[in-house]
Amino acid sequence: MGSFSFFLSFLCVFFVTSYAQLTENFYDQTCPRLPNIVRREVKRAIETDIRAGAKLIRFHFHDCFVQGCDGSVLLEDPPGFETELNGLGNLGIQGIEIIDAIKAAVEIECPGVVSCADILAQASKDSVDVQGGPSWRVLYGRRDSRTANKTGADNLPSPFENLDPLVKKFADVGLNETDLVALSGAHTFGRSRCVFFSGRLSNFSGSGQPDPTLDPTYRQELLSACTSQDTRVNFDPTTPDKFDKNYFTNLRANKGLLQSDQVLHSTQGAKTVEIVRLMALKQETFFRQFRLSMIKMGNIKPLTGSQGEIRRNCRRVNDLGSETGHDVM
Ligand code: HEM
Repeated sequence: MGSFSFFLSFLCVFFVTSYAQLTENFYDQTCPRLPNIVRREVKRAIETDIRAGAKLIRFHFHDCFVQGCDGSVLLEDPPGFETELNGLGNLGIQGIEIIDAIKAAVEIECPGVVSCADILAQASKDSVDVQGGPSWRVLYGRRDSRTANKTGADNLPSPFENLDPLVKKFADVGLNETDLVALSGAHTFGRSRCVFFSGRLSNFSGSGQPDPTLDPTYRQELLSACTSQDTRVNFDPTTPDKFDKNYFTNLRANKGLLQSDQVLHSTQGAKTVEIVRLMALKQETFFRQFRLSMIKMGNIKPLTGSQGEIRRNCRRVNDLGSETGHDVM
């Protein structure tokens, strides 16, 4: 075989093995109405809690970044392991009961068939699209882990980080700077507790001064809004619950909420500055990249085939030797 054709077959094998495990039609025979059920439940959740979508997509992100998209973040009692929910990056995370409700609805129609990891992927897409963002074709076929990794959850990207460590944490799971910028655009909706940015407001890094990359008027607004460290503030002061490109226009006006947001635009000479500019310029540029990056994130190390299991209850592994597992709450 010539070296060029060898190279081509290597490329084919590479793409087949890295992207082909998950497919659009995985549940076509076993749960054809899955997309409708999940979408209905996501809409229902958003009707009673405008933040439901934001909570769901955050869960998917935290799931995929720790040992791949395998539902590990949801486990409350992984045998012999500590839960990821107790990891630093997940403290105070909200919305697990919304996932329970979606799973319960799916189990009624398709018992024991659909993984919690796939439900998170589908629910994230619906959350974005219901709040005005882009839509995309979700790939399915992930299976649920029987283990969790608390240390991984301790090391999730942190709001207090500068650009280099953020870029490194994304690179570690196969995502590049463009993915980092696009996916951070999910901070166009949802809230953050003040504890995650209050250090920027007055004594930034021990300087006795506010973060110089924080707009002074916005800083005043945040100071008045943060009556306690647990108060939740909109990520996007302009259109708090809409999925749009305003996260990026905010960054360009020094109105990023977290340090980890603002560094994407305020790190001199960084590649990310230009990427932020392009996404702020045209919503479709952001949406197109967001779709691609979400699919890429959803492909991080899934369990497939006979690996793992299909949990009955997203919070628990199925019983050893039991056909039924736990009931969904
Ligand atoms: C780049 C690194 C990231 C860091 C450091 C980060 C950090 C945070 C923090 C500190 C909060 C507030 C949590 C709280 O108050 O309980 C938050 C919320 C949120 N994050 Fe991120 N995040 C990052 C990337 C992402 C990504 C990639 C997504 C999704 C694709 C995402 C989606 C969200 C959403 C939607 C919320 C609001 C959740 C709510 O309202 O409950 N984040 N993030």
